[in-house]
Amino acid sequence: MSDESRPSPPEPRTAAVIPAAGRGVRLGPGAPKALRALNGTPMLVHAVRAMAASRAVSLVVVVAPPDGAAEVRTLLDAHPLPERTDFLVVPGGESRQESVKCGLDALPDGVDIVLVHDAARPLVPVDTVDAVIEAVRDGAPAVVPALPLSDTVKQVDPRADGSPEPVVATPERSLLRAVQTPQGFDRDTLVRAHTAVTDDVTDDASMVERLGTPVVVVPGHEEAFKVTRPLDLVLAEAVLARRRLNDGF
Ligand code: CTP
Ligand code: MG
Repeated sequence: MSDESRPSPPEPRTAAVIPAAGRGVRLGPGAPKALRALNGTPMLVHAVRAMAASRAVSLVVVVAPPDGAAEVRTLLDAHPLPERTDFLVVPGGESRQESVKCGLDALPDGVDIVLVHDAARPLVPVDTVDAVIEAVRDGAPAVVPALPLSDTVKQVDPRADGSPEPVVATPERSLLRAVQTPQGFDRDTLVRAHTAVTDDVTDDASMVERLGTPVVVVPGHEEAFKVTRPLDLVLAEAVLARRRLNDGF
């Protein structure tokens, strides 16, 4: 067979797992955080669209609140995705880590690259998503988008009695990064990490680090911030309003 007629190897298939099963306690009373509206559209729908905006993402697995999978399925049926993107909805677990595992367990054969993206980061730009995927395609087993910090960070000795916490150390700020999602992984690496690590962690890359596997950073984006507290809702709606204005011109 000549080189020209030989089929090129298939592109690695990329899926995004979106943990969306949290309550959103820090946001205050109301619907589960992922179902709260931003400019009239649920946060989860924004997050799913942000993943589907990447041409590389062919499947989105949404991990819904344990009793809310049917509601989330109805919601996504009402907000269609591009034709190239399929979606699945599975119920989540007690912790973020368990919820991500529920999503990983639902991945079909043939997926080689997995993004894990918080539903609580609804506004991540597609260029950031693509940069993460690109770095995994280039051979990194684990990739995180991250930004330098603006605040100085102190390590403290927490006190349960509410008395002032003594400062223990001040890590050098220029060496620190605030880590966002989507985090991107070679599928086998992420599955191994989720099988091997059972400690409480707050992101997926730290599980891969425990395996001794290298994790690399690509530039994050300020619009990929996590909606955590009430003021973040104000910021998210302002970002959407700015986008609408810019699109109009
Ligand atoms: N998450 C999840 N399953 C859980 C807990 C969290 O899928 N049992 C998801 C959240 O839905 C969110 C992401 O993990 O998209 C990041 O978590 P966080 O921002 O802490 O959200 P919540 O846990 O919902 O918020 P809070 O900690 O304030 O309750
Ligand atoms: Mg939480």
